[in-house]
Amino acid sequence: MIFDNDVTNQLGVEIPVLSAPMGWVARPELVAAVSAAGAMGLVPGSLPVEQVRDDIRRVRDLTDKPIGVNIPIAFAKDPAIVDMIVGEGIGFVTTSAGSPGRFTSILKDAGLTVYHVVPTLGTALKAVDAGVDGLVVEGSEGAGFKSPHEVSSMVLLPLITSRVDVPVVAAGGIVDGASLLAAFALGAQGAQMGTRMLASRESAVHTHVKEAVLSASETDTMMLNRSSGRPMRVLRTATATALDEDPEATAGPLLSRILETYEHGDLEASLAQLGQAAGRIDEVLAAAEIIRRTTSEFEQILAGLAARHATGRPVA
Ligand SMILES: Cc1cc2nc3c(=O)[nH]c(=O)nc-3n(C[C@H](O)[C@H](O)[C@H](O)COP(=O)(O)O)c2cc1C
Repeated sequence: MIFDNDVTNQLGVEIPVLSAPMGWVARPELVAAVSAAGAMGLVPGSLPVEQVRDDIRRVRDLTDKPIGVNIPIAFAKDPAIVDMIVGEGIGFVTTSAGSPGRFTSILKDAGLTVYHVVPTLGTALKAVDAGVDGLVVEGSEGAGFKSPHEVSSMVLLPLITSRVDVPVVAAGGIVDGASLLAAFALGAQGAQMGTRMLASRESAVHTHVKEAVLSASETDTMMLNRSSGRPMRVLRTATATALDEDPEATAGPLLSRILETYEHGDLEASLAQLGQAAGRIDEVLAAAEIIRRTTSEFEQILAGLAARHATGRPVA
């Protein structure tokens, strides 16, 4: 399968798939495996600046293919991250969880390609006004921090792609060729995979977390902090349910113990970020195999649809 579109051209990759920038999960081995497979590995910028720089260098030791970095604006307290990213010669950045006005012009003036993560049409239009090169459009079925306005990808993607001229990468629910092709049908030119890559062989999370993904059904995640603070989609556990039911409790203390879950495998110690697509994942695969299967399924399903429907005969 050969992809040749705005996303592959802007990012300089063969396959328009991004691995999500997941703090403590997307360690250099996963980022490098994704980039080496011809897609775009993203280094999470949510860690301290020196750690992010070391991670970039470690990924570069493992592959010479293009890599990107995510700046989660609300969590990246140290603005030195921008100079560091520019200094390390990174060509592609996604910004998320904050105003696109904050870093876009600085990054673009330094020659980088910038995509901003958006959960609504209004935020998409603002990001385009701020001068971004592309958007990551994230539906509410996806993992992690979310907008209080929950809109799923089936509505969000065609809405936004019909109103903006910049390329769109879909995020939320994409795990295979069928979901990638669906995103393309809705106007996207690429996809970002979070939950699927969290359950990859190279992902740094403890086996218990990967096993939780394999055994999860589509109803085994929940949106926390719906009405207060910053909503987030996580694995449905006793801890998450108790937090949801206690109007006084906040997620902060639990989130500060995230390594007990991701590194040590205690699913009740903290809140594991997972998307609804966990219900569609039943195998831990190497990142390169996820990308290979995704592109070959995409091609097969597309050919099957064309053979069935693009015949001039009535649709059966
Ligand atoms: C463990 C984890 C951590 C994440 N951290 C970030 C982050 O720091 N910045 C960001 O933009 N997105 C983050 N995300 C969201 C992903 O980038 C992605 O958009 C989302 O997982 C897509 O939905 P999916 O899980 O259905 O693939 C995270 C997701 C997971 C699973």
